[in-house]
Amino acid sequence: MLISTLRLVSGLSLATVALAAPQRCVPKQEHSAARAAAVKEAFEFAWEGYYKYAFPHDELRPVTNGFTNSRNGWGASAADALSTALVMEIPEIVNQIVDYIPTVDFTKTDDQVSLFETTIRYLGGMISGYDLLKGPLAGLVPDNKNIESLLAQSKNLADQMKFAFDTPSGVPANNLNLAAQTTDGGDTNGIATIGTLVLEWTRLSDLTGDDEYAKLSQKGESHLLAPKPEKNVPFPGLVGTNVNLTTGEFVDARGGWGGGDDSFYEYLIKMYIYDPSRFETYKDRWILAADSTIKHLTSHPEPRPELTFVANYDGTTLQQNSGHLTCFDGGNFLLGGSVLKRKDYIDFGLSLVDGCRATYTATKTQIGPEGFSWDASKVPTNQIDFFKKNGFYITSPDYVLRPEVIESYYYAYRMTGDQKYQEWAWDAFVAINATTRVGSGFSSISDVNAEGGGQKTDFQESFLFAEVLKYAYLIHAEDNVWQVDGKGKNAFVFNTEAHPFQIYKGASK
Ligand SMILES: *[C@@H]1O[C@H](CO)[C@@H](O)[C@H](O)[C@H]1NC(C)=O
Ligand SMILES: *[C@@H]1O[C@H](CO)[C@@H](O)[C@H](O)[C@H]1NC(C)=O
Repeated sequence: MLISTLRLVSGLSLATVALAAPQRCVPKQEHSAARAAAVKEAFEFAWEGYYKYAFPHDELRPVTNGFTNSRNGWGASAADALSTALVMEIPEIVNQIVDYIPTVDFTKTDDQVSLFETTIRYLGGMISGYDLLKGPLAGLVPDNKNIESLLAQSKNLADQMKFAFDTPSGVPANNLNLAAQTTDGGDTNGIATIGTLVLEWTRLSDLTGDDEYAKLSQKGESHLLAPKPEKNVPFPGLVGTNVNLTTGEFVDARGGWGGGDDSFYEYLIKMYIYDPSRFETYKDRWILAADSTIKHLTSHPEPRPELTFVANYDGTTLQQNSGHLTCFDGGNFLLGGSVLKRKDYIDFGLSLVDGCRATYTATKTQIGPEGFSWDASKVPTNQIDFFKKNGFYITSPDYVLRPEVIESYYYAYRMTGDQKYQEWAWDAFVAINATTRVGSGFSSISDVNAEGGGQKTDFQESFLFAEVLKYAYLIHAEDNVWQVDGKGKNAFVFNTEAHPFQIYKGASK
């Protein structure tokens, strides 16, 4: 029984510490430990519900105790939960997952496969599991065959998908039919889906000694690092979104740090952290994008000029809207700032963290919306007061268990050591737990600004396991090698799905 792993912390029970309002008399470390334990309890609860009603399907429907297969039916929640169960050190769950992984047949699926989603969730989860179990968490899994299988299955999966890169330019197609080894025939792909493969595929090559995966992903990426034509690079380092698979050229000049573009920029600095000698150019491109962002995209809402958001663009025209996904940007600036020793990036990152927090504290549920805007010329009449008070208005009111705001709190805490960010992460976790926890898990909700979150839409994304509960846990957990290092000396780097990868230490073979 997983529930029984809920531990007493330094003699203080959860009920007396974690679940009460912050108690000033509790020493800081015990306080943090109790909070970490409360997040672990939430993870174990969600895992139990998934394991009972949905495993080995992709996702749990927590209200009706059903399941969905939105990620090819290979057990996405299990793959995504592995690295979190590892850093929480829960051997029962870890072993349930690694016993299962060798049984997956990655050649079989009825649905179209997304190269990007499959890479970040499945490949990311398995590679991270392998890195942690071969490294600091050796011993959690008794059966070495299961550990080796994580790498073998990563290779099997990549082998099924590598035909995606077989285009005239080498820019991969995203939507794949594995059985026929064909794509959906589209002639473009976006920078997030092209540019968020290189960490996983390079790590796979470095671990297997077969450089094919690294070469394929880096060739696709090369068109993003040397973007053409000039007119589709509206600001230095800031590019359009869609790339022609035949020519490798950008076909538009729309972009920003939001969904569809986001993790292309995120991975530029993360590749440099993974291996500074091979990926120096990536760092240079990140700096170019970061400097242009500060210079050209910084935006302050009229009613709350002290808040900072990052605008989107269409050419050089700015659009004053953003969303929950974009809120990873504060964390990414903080990470870049810590590694490059640039106080301006740290300060800018912290201002973005403040802006995203404002989207949480403004709503009835204390959870931020999927989409928001601060364009004063387009405020809906029923949100005029809300806009004046909060500096933004809601354009999409749902919450689908996204992690980005807590993720950025995590980086802010690791870089500054300021306990304020732990408090903010705790507040967000308590709100998510209070509003979305239902039935056998956590559910997406329809309206963050309605009492109780509006409707429970009965879907639990796999990234609840990979990201929300991991960042909410790690910000309170003890220091460890997989934690992001505040001084920029990292042993691990997190992929965009929050799976920690060991940074490159030289050829392993
Ligand atoms: C991509 O490039 C090819 C070759 O130049 C061209 O025929 C096609 O129309 C382009 N597609 C888009 C969407 O720009
Ligand atoms: C999370 O929700 C459960 C169920 O409502 C509750 O028992 C628990 O105390 C909550 N945890 C926190 C930290 O609020």
